[in-house]
This record gives sequence, C-alpha cells and structure tokens, in this order.
Amino acid sequence: MAASVRRTFGLLSSASVRLLRSHSERQFHLAAVRTMPAHDAEFNQAKDKLKTLSEDPGNEVKLKMYGLFKQATLGKCNAPKPGMWDMVGQAKWQSWNQLGDMSQDDAQKAYINIIESLVAEEKGSSTTEASGDGGKYTQIKVTREGKVFKILLNRPTKKNAINYEMYREWIDALKEASQDKSVTIAVVTGAGDYFCSGNDLANFANIKPSDIGKMALDAREILNEFVGTFIDFPKPLIGLINGPAVGISVTTLGLYDAVYASSRATFHTPFTVLGQSPEGCSSYMFPKLMGAAKASEVLLFNRKLTAPEAKERNLITSVIPESSFQQETDTMMQEFSKLPPKSMTTSKNLMREVERQKLHDVNAKECDLLVERWQSDECMNAIMAFFTRKSNL
Ligand code: COA
Repeated sequence: MAASVRRTFGLLSSASVRLLRSHSERQFHLAAVRTMPAHDAEFNQAKDKLKTLSEDPGNEVKLKMYGLFKQATLGKCNAPKPGMWDMVGQAKWQSWNQLGDMSQDDAQKAYINIIESLVAEEKGSSTTEASGDGGKYTQIKVTREGKVFKILLNRPTKKNAINYEMYREWIDALKEASQDKSVTIAVVTGAGDYFCSGNDLANFANIKPSDIGKMALDAREILNEFVGTFIDFPKPLIGLINGPAVGISVTTLGLYDAVYASSRATFHTPFTVLGQSPEGCSSYMFPKLMGAAKASEVLLFNRKLTAPEAKERNLITSVIPESSFQQETDTMMQEFSKLPPKSMTTSKNLMREVERQKLHDVNAKECDLLVERWQSDECMNAIMAFFTRKSNL
C-alpha cells in the first residue's frame, strides 16, 4: 500500500521546483520566474526556505503549493486535462485549474503564506520539545521528543501508583496527544525502578463507611473514562515497560498498539488477592491474547509473569535487555514517529474499528462489577492489610 502511494505520488517531492516534472516544464518555469509579478523577492525567498524544511509537508500541501506555484508563475490554467490514467498529472492539473482567475500576485502571496506557516510550525515543534509541559501536569511528565509524545508516570517514590490526579492527567495527556498535529505517536513509560504499581490503594483507604458507595461510583466514572480514552486513542500508542508493572498498568496493555519491555519488567495482576476483579478490557483481551487457560492463571490465580513469559503469552511485543532498553527504545520510537502519520492512524483505526464497540461494552461491564467489588469486605480487608503490613513487620 505504502509503495503504491509512493509510486502514485512519488514525484510530488517537497520542493516545488521538483514538482515540475519534465524538462520543458522546468524551462517554462524559469522563463516565467523572470517575468514574475509584485512579490518576486519574497517569492524567491520562500522557495529557498522550502528547501530548509526537514519534514515532508505531505501530499495535500504539496499539491496545493504546486497549483499556486503554477498560477503565480504562469497565470490561469490553460493546459489540457491529463488522461484518466495519469493520476499524478490529474491531481496536479486539478490543483492548478481550481484556482480559476486568481491573480498571479495573490497566488504568490498564498504560496508565500503556506511556506511561512510550514517554517513556523517546524520551529514551534522544536520549541515545545524544550519547554516540556509547562507545569500543567504534576503526577506525570509530558514531553515532546521530535514527533514522539512521551508520558512519564512520575511518582517514583510510590512506584508510580495511579491516584485520582494521575488518572485525570493521563486522560488529559492522551487527549492532548491525539489533538497535537506535531506528534505522530505517543509512548507511556515510568520514572524510577517501576513502570507502575497499579491503582493507588490509598484511593480506597481512609474512607468513612458512609462514603464508600459514592467513592465506588466516582471511581467507576474515572476508570470508565480512562480505559475508554485508551480504546479511542487515534494514534499509535506504545508502552515502554521499564520495570515491574502491576494491576491496571498490566490490564490495559492489550489496548496499546505495541509494548516493549525491559528484561527486568514483571507483570502482575493480583486482583483476587485484593478482592477485586479485572479491568482495562483484560477480561476480553487476555483470553484472546493468551488463550483462556493461561489468562485465568494470570487474572484468577495471581501468577506474576516475567518479561519473556509475557512475550510468550502475546501480552507484549518484545523484550529488550535492561542495559540497552532506554537507548534502543529511543531510537525505535524516533524511527516509528517518522513514518507517514495518516497511514499509521488509518491502519490503526482499521484494526481498532473491528471491535471498538465490543471493547467499550466490556469496559462498562468491568467497571460495573468493580463498583460492587470495591464495596466488598474482601476488598476492604485486603487494602487494610496492605497499609498495615509495615507496622506488622
Ligand atoms: N498504592 C499505594 N501506595 C503504593 C502502591 C499502591 N498501589 N504501591 C506502592 N505504594 C507505596 C508504598 O505504600 C510505599 O509507600 P511508603 O514508602 O509511604 O510506605 C512506597 O510505594 C514503596 O512501596 P514498598 O511496598 O515499600 O516497595 P516494595 O518494593 O517493597 O514493593 C510493590 C513494591 C509494588 C510490590 C508493593 O508496594 C505493592 O504490592 N504494592 C501494591 C500493588 C497493588 O496491589 N496494586 C493494585 C493492584 S489492583
């Protein structure tokens, strides 16, 4: 598919001069440039700036620039429409022809504007990289590294346990990543030695018995939204599992598009020990990925998986030695992020669409069941046991 797109549009390279295919077109262009209207100097500067862009602006923009360039240099389109099999020629002709009677001067200005905004956009995306998240997030850290949107779970002293604020910020960050045109993929990783220790059990502790019902309903809402945001995240989402992962940080792994784990990562879902039940669509995704018998071992009987075991059970994509994890994943993410973004998102959503509704239904059911589980004695006793464990040592 990518190759055929490249064959179709391969000649539409980023420099507009290169958009002019044939030798005669180029000659015609050079002659026309000599008799250009009002904004000659800026127009020529814009052409030079175009060559400095490091990112391909995409075929849509390049086609638009092609039409404007022809209009600016030659005036109204009077070339015959190319034959139906010449798809590239047709697209270029269409782009020029649709400008109708636009003056050469206006076409120059529009052409200059496009290039100015492309240059500004590129400058903007490298500035964001340096400035980070501007203090908007406190429990996570958000950075842009080129076209990679990175979410770092950032409570290392609590093993990156997810409190309410972190749930909220993680949802907001995913929404920000989905809307930010300068980023093409999003990654999630953890600060410190853990990827994440799951739900912050303090969310459930220190609650008056009369407030437990409300707490459970509030938690249901945020959990439902959190998992729903994963289901609907439109761009490739990649998990970089730097260390042990527990609870919901494991159950949501089936909703990532790829998961790379350090060799020291482990995967643990101790739900029944805690009197709880699975979430993150794992009640559906784990049996699908691992087979029912292996999923039950993990979700019912608390079997903690090593990274190679998680790979063998299709929960993760691959295992990378701890010593080179950071460097290898950085390089890989940069490479992924430079792939054609529209092709990545349409391909991802093609796969997701098949069972998007199913995943939302599973999510809703899991959340409903947890409302009951969180209020159970089994759950409350397990959480009390966790927080009193040190005083019992
Ligand atoms: N919720 C709340 N606090 C947590 C937490 C969690 N899920 N996981 C770790 N913490 C806190 C600990 O209470 C401790 O805080 P403190 O220093 O104020 O006492 C700190 O993080 C470090 O944890 P600690 O238990 O001392 O480290 P450890 O290396 O011995 O064990 C874990 C790490 C993750 C194995 C252990 O903390 C644990 O079992 N956590 C609970 C995991 C869990 O059940 N998650 C929910 C699944 S639904």
